Amino acid sequence: MAPAPASLVFSKIALLFAFKYPIYTLFCALLGLYVSVRFILRFTRFILDTFVLPGTSLKKYGAGKGAWALITGATDGIGREFALQLAKAGFNILIVSRSPDKLALVSSEIETKYGVQVKSQAIDFARPTEEDYTSLASLIAPLPVSVLVNNVGKSHALPTPFVDIDPQEITDIIRINIDATMRVTQIVVPGMIQRKKGLILSLGSFASLIPTPLLTPYSASKAFLRTFTAALSSELAPHGIKVHLLNTYYVTTPMSKIRHPSPLIPTPTSYVQSALSKIGLRGGAVGSGRGGEGTPFWTHSVLDFLISNLGGDWFVGYVKSTNEEIRKRALRKREREAAKEKEGKNE
Ligand SMILES: NC(=O)c1ccc[n+]([C@@H]2O[C@H](COP(=O)([O-])OP(=O)(O)OC[C@H]3O[C@@H](n4cnc5c(N)ncnc54)[C@H](OP(=O)(O)O)[C@@H]3O)[C@@H](O)[C@H]2O)c1
Repeated sequence: MAPAPASLVFSKIALLFAFKYPIYTLFCALLGLYVSVRFILRFTRFILDTFVLPGTSLKKYGAGKGAWALITGATDGIGREFALQLAKAGFNILIVSRSPDKLALVSSEIETKYGVQVKSQAIDFARPTEEDYTSLASLIAPLPVSVLVNNVGKSHALPTPFVDIDPQEITDIIRINIDATMRVTQIVVPGMIQRKKGLILSLGSFASLIPTPLLTPYSASKAFLRTFTAALSSELAPHGIKVHLLNTYYVTTPMSKIRHPSPLIPTPTSYVQSALSKIGLRGGAVGSGRGGEGTPFWTHSVLDFLISNLGGDWFVGYVKSTNEEIRKRALRKREREAAKEKEGKNE
């Protein structure tokens, strides 16, 4: 006689178990149903957010009606692109960044292309004075700023074990990524509360979604932004102010040192287009429990959904070995350049 198929044996055991322990079986079935329905709802919302639904319109924040957008770190990379695209959408633009000459260039580019009003202020957020922040407060006092993009950020010159990082680099990262974000936000928020309208976007990073060895202070500074956003978004929601963290994987900018875009690594232009068309949506961050956070670019969103659902632990080891490899290559390049320079001097 042929043996019964495994599925038949399994069904028989399950039936016997169900008859013997009906309450326990019902509990397991309901739990299974709850987990499945929860996942299906989460997956559906992820698909809708990432591929179907449009985000909140910028018109809600006064685009084309005299409202201002303030962008920090706006002379290069993602910040410059936010300034250009928000000007194109009809906002007057206030840019705050480090280099006065670059600020002048970006300001005149925006004025020429989009005919909106542009103001700028140079602040080195790594070495700000109290006067810098008071003069920024005076500059924005008469302006109806309804959009703030907390974009300015600093990472490490190269991946480095924590014990070997120059303490000055750590201080700069804390001042730029954390202090500047809180100071600028605190200056802008009272006006938004008065006008009962505002959008605050902060540039988050996968370096906080996956704790990132060899970039430890940067990774931790971005984790700060995550908690800051979640708490502040709850505080400011009753005032009509949306606070949102943009969870971001790589983008081709001077900071990432990646020049060529790929499906996973967009240019600043396509990244910012996504960010501005998906305002308020969660994407891959949906159901992750990370409040006030969204992942606007579609491939980043898919990656976030996978990491959030598969668990991020094994990614830490992968990121660590990648950073060790990047460090080795960068150090070899430095050695080659130093040797070349020495040769040049000897000739
Ligand atoms: N690029 C990525 O792959 C990536 C991934 C995840 C998250 N992010 C986040 O996205 C944000 C923008 O990054 P990005 O790649 O666009 O950077 P970026 O290309 O290096 O541009 C940085 C901008 O910030 C300004 N800046 C730098 N240090 C400053 C300081 N001390 N004071 C004032 N302004 C300063 C720069 O001004 P100068 O022109 O004067 O230098 C520049 O305008 C950052 O918060 C970053 O952490 C980026």
